[in-house]
Amino acid sequence: MKRGKFITFEGGEGVGKSTQAKRLAERIKRNDISVIVTREPGGTPVGEDVRGLILKDRPKDPVTELLLFAAARAEHMTSVIRPALDEGTWVISDRFIDSTRVYQGKLYGLEPEFISLLERYTVAPDFPDLTLILDLPAGAGVERAQSRGTLSRYDAERIETHEALRKGFLEIATDEPKRCVLIDANLPVSSVETAVWQAVTAHLLAEAR
Ligand SMILES: Nc1ncnc2c1ncn2[C@@H]1O[C@H](COP(=O)(O)OP(=O)(O)OP(=O)(O)O)[C@@H](O)[C@H]1O
Ligand SMILES: [Mg+2]
Repeated sequence: MKRGKFITFEGGEGVGKSTQAKRLAERIKRNDISVIVTREPGGTPVGEDVRGLILKDRPKDPVTELLLFAAARAEHMTSVIRPALDEGTWVISDRFIDSTRVYQGKLYGLEPEFISLLERYTVAPDFPDLTLILDLPAGAGVERAQSRGTLSRYDAERIETHEALRKGFLEIATDEPKRCVLIDANLPVSSVETAVWQAVTAHLLAEAR
């Protein structure tokens, strides 16, 4: 039995992560590969509770937030992601470690060493095989999220914050070119879907067969 592949979608608010995660899963299924879609924070009862907690009342101290995310991630890896990969199922996560690196690290200033230590205890050695970073000018993402009608506390941040987030994700794409593929998300949904599928085919499908 071949181990499943682990794919993550990353990027700022409203760039299309959830839309594309769903579409990619449908394509993978059409190739007779079993796949699950999950999200962070969330993916388990503990994770969903943490998600509710963080989105409702933002913790005062960014360390609180980082540790809550880490706790949710440990649970997510152990009870959902690892077992699925072990049984050959592919896993798509809507946000994962790069969101923590960008929000808690680059945006809120927590040390990268602290963040990577937590990754070692929660994720290693099962880092994503492929990360699709959806890139969109900051204003466009907020507009999309607004038109969808749900605006989280993150969506309501200032435009400079969204610019900083975008820059943070771009830096990760540059720093880790083997794992990350940058996708232009400023295109119609179906064009983005095609670009995502090309990346998955090139990076993962060839070796999965
Ligand atoms: N390529 C696209 N072009 C235009 N609209 C899009 C595109 N992709 C997604 N949308 C729309 O933009 C909104 C945000 O998309 P989606 O919820 O997938 O983004 P997200 O990255 O998951 O957002 P969030 O960070 O808030 O979870 C939705 O209303 C969706 O239908
Ligand atoms: Mg989403």
